[in-house]
Amino acid sequence: MFYCLAQKVLFQTQPELAHNLAMTGIRWTANTPLDRLYRQDVASAPVEFMGIQFPNPVGLAAGMDKDGEAINGFAAMGFGHVEVGTVTPRPQPGNEKPRSFRLKPARAIINRMGFNNKGVDNLVANIKAANPGNCVIGVNIGKNKDTPLEQGKEDYLFCMERVYEVAGYITVNISSPNTPGLRSLQYGEMLDDLLSSLKAKQAELAEQHGKYVPVALKVAPDLSDEEIAAVCDSLLRNRFDGVIATNTTLSREGVEDLPEHSEAGGLSGVPLRERATEVVRKLHQNLGDRLPILGCGGIDSGADAMEKIKAGAKMVQIYTGFIYNGPALIKSITDAYLSQKKQ
Ligand SMILES: Cc1cc2nc3c(=O)[nH]c(=O)nc-3n(C[C@H](O)[C@H](O)[C@H](O)COP(=O)(O)O)c2cc1C
Repeated sequence: MFYCLAQKVLFQTQPELAHNLAMTGIRWTANTPLDRLYRQDVASAPVEFMGIQFPNPVGLAAGMDKDGEAINGFAAMGFGHVEVGTVTPRPQPGNEKPRSFRLKPARAIINRMGFNNKGVDNLVANIKAANPGNCVIGVNIGKNKDTPLEQGKEDYLFCMERVYEVAGYITVNISSPNTPGLRSLQYGEMLDDLLSSLKAKQAELAEQHGKYVPVALKVAPDLSDEEIAAVCDSLLRNRFDGVIATNTTLSREGVEDLPEHSEAGGLSGVPLRERATEVVRKLHQNLGDRLPILGCGGIDSGADAMEKIKAGAKMVQIYTGFIYNGPALIKSITDAYLSQKKQ
């Protein structure tokens, strides 16, 4: 009810302004009596993923709370986990505005934000100050735009080292279409080298901190079957802990008729759904039960989430569907998950 009203107002403004207003609102009201406007009880639906206990299978996908400023508010909405970031070693402004576009008739978004964020140290401080209860905090890490690709690995290692003590899990983002060259890290030797270096660093940090923080890879929906097989091979060889599928797509299938389709950037929401599910299925065919999959992309209902789970995902994340449906979607997905488990 409140979300319907808020959405009517927010959808009158530019997407990025709407985002900033909503984030400020959530940040200011979290842990005050006003958080009743969005606080909800979500049924308990525990899931184990990468060795971690999650209170339910629904997470907030990376990119909405890049700096970890509204973690308590999202936890109050009932998310089982919140993935903050993508964060980079140093703060950076991201691409020129406007850089986010609503494709309302398609329940979609095109964005080319470009990892705008306030840097990893600010994020760590925000996570330390947060009080999310049993909601798990994942941290999504990336590289600065002005770090040459050949040195990109150093940025990931730096971020991993900084976030390790506060992260429930860490996601390595090499699949954003909005940082030039980033997606080339998804292939061949560059991928192997990145994954093996991160695993070596994880072992070192686990020893140092006396705790094991799992690390997942987030992949693009635009990989071919052969590329998916090669990524799986590398994930298994390097004993990564999990995989998140998918990020936004470069495809414009399903939105060619809308004027915004020609904007550069990644497309998310309903038009991405089938392709993202297909990638989950292909990953599962390659990985079996050796490596767990988190499904993301175009989930707009409980039934959509169940499709991802049937394709092989153990949990799901939402971003665009959350914008279009509000916190009620967390509940619908959890309820659908529980009723499917009973069958
Ligand atoms: C405005 C916007 C910003 C995003 N920023 C990031 C990001 O910083 N890091 C990342 O890994 N994914 C980012 N994503 C991708 C989402 O996390 C998600 O993978 C993708 O949107 C597909 O899910 P959806 O269809 O539910 O939105 C962003 C998506 C949107 C719409």
